[in-house]
Amino acid sequence: MNILLLGSGGREHALAWKLAASPLLNKLYAAPGNPGIGQEAALVPLDVEDHQAVATFCKQNDIGLVVVGPEAPLVAGISDTLRAAGIRVFGPSKDAARLEGSKAFTKELCARFNIPTGAFGRFENAEAAKAYIREHGAPIVVKADGLAAGKGVTVAMTEAEAIEAVEACFSGAFGGAGAEVVIEEYLEGEEASFFCLCDGKTALPFGTAQDHKRVGDGDTGPNTGGMGAYSPAPVMDEAMVERTMREIIEPTMRGMAEIGSPFAGILFAGLMITKDGPKLIEYNVRFGDPECQVMMMRLKDDLLVLLNAATDGQLEHMSVRWQDKLALTVVMAAKGYPGSPEKGSVIGGLDAAAATGAQIFHAGTAMKDGEIIANGGRVLNVTAIGDTVRQAQAAAYRAVDAVEWPGGFCRRDIGWQAVQRETR
Ligand code: AMP
Ligand code: GLY
Repeated sequence: MNILLLGSGGREHALAWKLAASPLLNKLYAAPGNPGIGQEAALVPLDVEDHQAVATFCKQNDIGLVVVGPEAPLVAGISDTLRAAGIRVFGPSKDAARLEGSKAFTKELCARFNIPTGAFGRFENAEAAKAYIREHGAPIVVKADGLAAGKGVTVAMTEAEAIEAVEACFSGAFGGAGAEVVIEEYLEGEEASFFCLCDGKTALPFGTAQDHKRVGDGDTGPNTGGMGAYSPAPVMDEAMVERTMREIIEPTMRGMAEIGSPFAGILFAGLMITKDGPKLIEYNVRFGDPECQVMMMRLKDDLLVLLNAATDGQLEHMSVRWQDKLALTVVMAAKGYPGSPEKGSVIGGLDAAAATGAQIFHAGTAMKDGEIIANGGRVLNVTAIGDTVRQAQAAAYRAVDAVEWPGGFCRRDIGWQAVQRETR
């Protein structure tokens, strides 16, 4: 089977690496890809926003399955265009992608189908939003409604901070994504990322991970798309997975089917494990980045077989096997991230880093005059596996230290919570 993978991040490099290992694969194409993905796939310079051009490419190259990495094309409806053209695609419809595309949509779904989440209000003007904040007090969470690359959320510890975030949203800090604001109860607990492979009817648990959202060591500084991750997440033991399926995922699958938007693809639940049980922070309709990188390191089964089964509505009788190991990834970012990352600095030492045994997934890299340069915010995902978190962490940082990149930085404490738990 020929596959077209859409995207250009570390998540897509990990997917390409895993798909390339499938005996069912004939030829792998990726658009637009990056130099790391180019080691596994033929890169094609398609404009992913031009859904019709993607469909034409698929017809011309006998593509048997399109795998969509990021959320933006899903929210814009690429699956619908491809399906209408008779092309198989792994990823939700535009209607189903509202689970990520609109926080307000998800909140309404939670209310209607009794899915546990924080109390919330939606506002289209600053005055009403501020009144709600004054009424409920801090800590409180302010979110731009639409897509903002993980940066549209302010966890405000004071009322003043919350009010400042509301003003930023309505003054256009997140463009169209901030035209509506969701204000939410602050949830206290341990965060976990939980993934399910879905085919419209069945949701199959598909791994857990813990992300590190803040840019700085000790979970300080602004939120990012994620600075590192490990899998599995220790809080998501068998009982918690079972409870999350029953209280959150299954009602979501039933609800989405009932409103005529059955969900197929990867359902990524951002959870807070509170003292009252799991609560939904948000849904994403794709793999996590960098969570995907650690999950692909542990997945024993053929990813292509699983994606095919999800695409064909055949998940009911499938199961998933994982290596009984821990995987950990450290994100190396360009200086300035998450504000304005500096582009163009040269990255060396990648062969030496890979020689330590780690997988170096490329995110925002480019090739210039035969050298790898930084071309985005999050640039490399240095990923390793071990029998304990501590071992995986040591192996990942050994590889990080072999990378020669003065223009980059990373957190030095990825996995700290899990290491503490191991040492207890
Ligand atoms: P989101 O983009 O909704 O996942 O939010 C980004 C991050 O903000 C989450 O991963 C949490 O760390 C934090 N966050 C979001 N909503 C809440 C909440 N209701 N309570 C506490 N923290 C939250
Ligand atoms: N790492 C969080 C995300 O992919 O949304």
